[in-house]
Amino acid sequence: MSKLDAQPQLIDRFGRHVTYVRMSITDRCDFRCVYCMDEEMTFMPREQLLTLEEIVFVLRAFCELGVENVRITGGEPLIRRNVDWLFEQVGLLKHSTALKELNITTNGSQLPKYAKSMAESGVDRINISLDSLNPERFRELTRTGDLNAVLAGIEAAKQAGFKRVKLNAVIMKGRNDDEIIDLAQFAIDNDLDISYIEEMPLGHVSHQRDESYCSSDEVLAILQQAFELTSSDIQTGGPSHYYRVAGSKSKIGFISPHSHNFCESCNRVRVTTEGRLLLCLGQEHSVDLREIIRQYPDDIELLKQAIIDSMEIKPKGHDFNLKEEPIIFRHMSVTGG
Ligand code: 5AD
Ligand code: SF4
Repeated sequence: MSKLDAQPQLIDRFGRHVTYVRMSITDRCDFRCVYCMDEEMTFMPREQLLTLEEIVFVLRAFCELGVENVRITGGEPLIRRNVDWLFEQVGLLKHSTALKELNITTNGSQLPKYAKSMAESGVDRINISLDSLNPERFRELTRTGDLNAVLAGIEAAKQAGFKRVKLNAVIMKGRNDDEIIDLAQFAIDNDLDISYIEEMPLGHVSHQRDESYCSSDEVLAILQQAFELTSSDIQTGGPSHYYRVAGSKSKIGFISPHSHNFCESCNRVRVTTEGRLLLCLGQEHSVDLREIIRQYPDDIELLKQAIIDSMEIKPKGHDFNLKEEPIIFRHMSVTGG
C-alpha cells in the first residue's frame, strides 16, 4: 500500500477518527511509582506477551488503516530486550504507511543507553516522567528510582535531537504539590515542555486517591503566580491542553481526565502488553488481537478487518470516581500510559 492510499478507515459510532495508537510493550518497570504500581506486583508470564515481531505486525495493520501516530509505552518500554530493533522496524513504517509520528513514553532511566539510536530510528517525540526534583522524595514517589539517572537521561534526550522532549508530572496533594513551580522552571531552563497529569484510578495502589487528588485548575492557579500563561489551541495528538509561557519556547500542558473530560474528541486506542486492543482507558471493551494473529499468522487483512470491526464497540467515554474502589483493575503499566 502506498502512502497516498492510506485513507483513514477507523471511524467509530460517534464519528471519531482513530489515528493514534498507544502500544504497551512490557508491563515491567525498574520503578514502582506510588500512583502506578503496588509495592508487590505480579507481572505477566513472558509467553503471554506479544513478541516484538507481533508488535510490528499489529502496528503495521493499524498504520495501513490510517493511524498516523504511534506511541510506545509500558511499563518501562526501554527495559524490553532488543527494543532498538523494534524502533527501527516501526520507524520504517513511515515510508510505507500513514504513520507520521513515532513517540515514546519512558521513565528516562535507560535513555543514556538508547536516546541516540532511537533518534536515528525516527523516534520523534519523547515523554519523560518526572514528579520531583528532590532526590529523597523522588525515591519515595518511585520507590526504587534514582533521580540522577533520570536527569542524565533527560540530558541524553536533549542531545539526541528529538523533535520535542516533554516532561510528565503527576501532581498529588501533600506529596509533590509544593514543586509545581520548580518543575515548570526546570522545564523552561532546559527548553523542554511539561504536562501536569491528574491521577487516574487504575488498579489498586496503597494510598487513598481522593485525598491526594489535585485538579488541573489548582495547578494552573499556582503556576499563574509565577509565570505569564496564555491558553493555546496547540494539538500534539494527545489529550493535553497547552499554555504558552511568556518569554519561553516551553509549553505547559494539562491532562485532566477528571476535571475536563476529553472523551468527546478521543482519537486513540491502546494495545496492552498481551495484545488486547482496548477501546477506552477507563472501560473494559476490548478485542483479543493476539488470538487472531496466533491463529492466522501473516494474514494482515484479517487482522485489519478485526480492527475495523472493533470501532463498533468503542465506548462513548470513561467514568472515573476517585472515592470508590477502582472499577478498572488493570494498572497503568499493563494498559500503557
Ligand atoms: N494516573 C495518572 N497518570 C499515571 N501514570 C501512571 N499511572 C498513572 C495514574 N494512575 C503516568 C506516569 C507517566 C505516564 C505514562 O502515565 O507518570 O508519565
Ligand atoms: Fe514505571 Fe512509569 Fe509506572 Fe512509574 S509510572 S512505575 S516509571 S511504568
